[in-house]
Amino acid sequence: ETVEWEAASYDMGGHDTYMHKEISEQADAVDRVLRGRIDEKFSTVHLGGLNLDAREARGIRRVKILGCGTSYHAGLIGASLIEGLARIPADSEPASEFRYRNPVVDPDTLYIAVSQSGETYDVLAAVQELKRKGARVLGVVNVVGSAIAREADGGVYVHAGPEVCVVSTKCFTNTVVAFALLALHLGRIRDLSVADGKRIIEGLRKLPAQIQEILEGEEDIKKLAAEYADAKSMMFIGRVRGYPVALEASLKLKEISYIHAEAYPASELKHGPLALIEPAMPTVAIVPSDSLLEKNRAAMEEIKARSGRILAVAHQEQEKADHTIIVPKNEDELDPILMGIPLQLLAYHTALALGRDIDKPRNLAKSVTVE
Ligand code: AGP
Repeated sequence: ETVEWEAASYDMGGHDTYMHKEISEQADAVDRVLRGRIDEKFSTVHLGGLNLDAREARGIRRVKILGCGTSYHAGLIGASLIEGLARIPADSEPASEFRYRNPVVDPDTLYIAVSQSGETYDVLAAVQELKRKGARVLGVVNVVGSAIAREADGGVYVHAGPEVCVVSTKCFTNTVVAFALLALHLGRIRDLSVADGKRIIEGLRKLPAQIQEILEGEEDIKKLAAEYADAKSMMFIGRVRGYPVALEASLKLKEISYIHAEAYPASELKHGPLALIEPAMPTVAIVPSDSLLEKNRAAMEEIKARSGRILAVAHQEQEKADHTIIVPKNEDELDPILMGIPLQLLAYHTALALGRDIDKPRNLAKSVTVE
């Protein structure tokens, strides 16, 4: 399977860039990470390589997720899935920060290393240090047999297939889905009900068709990109589950368009960054129809009052926004998976409009195997 992927990875399959190919492959990729893992009978999932039995899973007191860049952002959503579904306190931290602050390593904490390549030095070094201290470390990794996959005690393969473009898109999406599977698995061993397990499984099954539906809106997103490509700088805001989506979307825009971008929790705007808002700094707002909808609308009002332009990613038309990209609704916990996808396309078409070298952005490498 690995060999086939490598051969195929040189073929752009009719796309102009690997990035476009990889964005377009996401419905299939998500289908692949789900395949063979769902257990309808017990409303849970089987994860063959986890190497963590039910008793061990019940003994976990905390989860600490470590990764870099996009993988760190996927870890942030992963942490909220694990905390939400399995009710285990969880957080995600850049692997390098963790490594250099001489952390307390706790035997009741489950450590999870996240990496597309499985070769990122900062993540690998964190895993080695953790193992030396006797911690249990799982990997959420894309490349089969990579250094981090080999070093970990077990884990979940992300099965995104080969990702050639320097910036990660389909692997981000699949990593978050892999975390949803892990969260569901841990949740069903702990306190997640059969009904909630079923609800999440139904949501997961809807993802590939919903992703396809978003991708079919590409022409509209291209027009929006033309509209915002003159921005000097862009603000991305979201709340709770929407905040990591904002972080990832802002990273994508920076990496390939070289437009400066900031990501903030919507609630933090008034604590400083509101000073930046003016017509030349548009805002992308992540506005899911969940319990925080009204709060997000209030943040958009604050921006409008300062003459800021707003592009909302939402489940329904947003009056306060200048433009709304509407995405299909899933379960609240799974919404971040879908809300990031149109913003990959937005970054892509913005970079294209500016004539950037999308697959090989300046100063960046696909995997950073040095310190
Ligand atoms: C993604 O768009 C970036 N190029 C970068 O942040 C990347 O996610 C990071 O270097 C981590 O790589 P990994 O997932 O292969 O460990």
